[in-house]
Amino acid sequence: MDCRLQKEELEFWESQKRCGDEMDLKLARDLPDDTPDFILKMMGDFENEVARFCFSGAKGRVLDAGCGNGNLLLRALKNENNKALGERAALQIIGMDFSGNMLGRAALRAAEDDRAGFLQGSVTSLPFRDLSFDRVVSSGVLTCLPNTEAAAKALQEFYRVLKPEGVLVVDFFSRISHYTLIRKHLFREPINPPEYVSPAEFQRALERAGFAVLACRGFDFKPCQGYLFLSRWRPIIDPGYFQERLSSFLERRVLPGRPRLNLLGYRIYVKCIRK
Ligand SMILES: C[S@@+](CC[C@H](N)C(=O)[O-])C[C@H]1O[C@@H](n2cnc3c(N)ncnc32)[C@H](O)[C@@H]1O
Repeated sequence: MDCRLQKEELEFWESQKRCGDEMDLKLARDLPDDTPDFILKMMGDFENEVARFCFSGAKGRVLDAGCGNGNLLLRALKNENNKALGERAALQIIGMDFSGNMLGRAALRAAEDDRAGFLQGSVTSLPFRDLSFDRVVSSGVLTCLPNTEAAAKALQEFYRVLKPEGVLVVDFFSRISHYTLIRKHLFREPINPPEYVSPAEFQRALERAGFAVLACRGFDFKPCQGYLFLSRWRPIIDPGYFQERLSSFLERRVLPGRPRLNLLGYRIYVKCIRK
């Protein structure tokens, strides 16, 4: 693995100093301080949906590998609290991250909840015994790894710690989404694995590691990306704006009737089972 890039990645997460719930959302998604409320609301809705996709049906021991500031696991625990007592699953979520800073933030936010525990470690060398989890969720982490070998190693580690028929939920950025293609061809941005892969390439990597895909959910939430990538003073040429219009059209008019089209999304979460 490229240790220099991993060191830079770690330094980035260690240097994040903001805190507070709203700031935590901005931090987790790398949003600027003056992000407008409507974008924050959209991000909040996105995170809720992701938390539901990643954690729905989870029970037993669950690992959130690369939990960051705990956004997803906190939402998952809150969703459990909203269920009737008899319907709540017996759940223990272990949040793990290689950044002590992010982990400390997550532990602080979940301090009141005895269903959550935390441990520092890397996804490429998990500090857990074989066959010790019922589910592993790793959101926004494979995309942070320095190269394809590190991503393959992380998948091997997820396989190792999962029990047979355990569930893995991971995500990637699609290199064939319309938004990625705009960035690649118009703005000449580097679009490389393991951050950007096609749905078929990602499925092959999962199968090589011993997983079978159960479900996918693609998301397009790009007004904020447009906002991020170009300044507020250039909204007219902001590709995020056009992308958002196109995405809204696809999601509202086309997707409801044709679920597989969500694979055209920019960020794709995949739920799979350990064979
Ligand atoms: C984009 S954040 C995602 C946080 C959280 N999973 C979420 O979806 O909100 C990426 C997180 O992955 C962590 N991370 C990056 N590389 C890692 C590695 N090799 N092992 C463990 N954590 C890592 C970072 O410290 C950071 O907290």
